[in-house]
Parts: sequence; structure tokens; C-alpha cells
Amino acid sequence: LSSVEVDISGIAEGQIVTVKWRGRPVFVRHRTRQEIEAAQNTPLSDLSDPQPDSARVKKPEWLIVVGICTHLGCIPIGYEGEYGGWLCPCHGSVFDTSGRIRAGPAPTNLEVPEYAFISATRVKIG
Ligand code: FES
Repeated sequence: LSSVEVDISGIAEGQIVTVKWRGRPVFVRHRTRQEIEAAQNTPLSDLSDPQPDSARVKKPEWLIVVGICTHLGCIPIGYEGEYGGWLCPCHGSVFDTSGRIRAGPAPTNLEVPEYAFISATRVKIG
């Protein structure tokens, strides 16, 4: 399938759901207010791959990223690491609540796939 539709109505605030898209995991994260604020309030000067949170989400509550570490392709673990985003178990890359690389060997942020909200409760990825 070149695209996948996800019903987000059952994803609680604070929850991450992993869906499969083109054979790859995609994390759909319903961010809490705290997680949103942490992502938005991070100065770009703190980032090695500087991207404002607003450029990575379409709605602040929803972060959608490809769940593959940009170092060597392991699957990062949610809610882990210093920034509460993800921690890669392979070589310790740390991602924040916007999926941006904050520490460790990964060269770039987690990829944001193409996606669109097709209704209040459905997202089409791809
Ligand atoms: Fe994630 Fe190396 S594959 S840190």
C-alpha cells in the first residue's frame, strides 16, 4: 500500500501508536500539553538539525514520524531518554518530543512522512 489511513480517535493523550507504512514503522503520537510546550520552547540553537516544531507537525497535538533511527535504522523506544521523546537502543541516540535528534550519533531528526488529516479523526499517511 502506498498510503495508510489511521483512525486516531482512540489514541489517548500521551499515547504513541505504531502503524506500518510501506514496510516501515510510523509513530503517531498524541502529545500532551507538556510535550508540546517542550517541543515548541526549545531554542533552535540547541538543535544539531535545527527545525522548529511548527515545521514538523500539522496540529500541535499530533506528531507523526517514521520510527526508524536516522543513524543505522534501529527502532527508537518511546518515552525514553533525557527529553522524553525516544531513545534508540542501538547506540543511544536521543530524540525529543518533536522527534528531533538531541544527543548521540544520529545525524538528523526522525523523518516526517507525507500525511494529511482527512477528517477530525482520520489521518492518511503517504
Ligand atoms: Fe540508532 Fe545507531 S541506530 S543510534
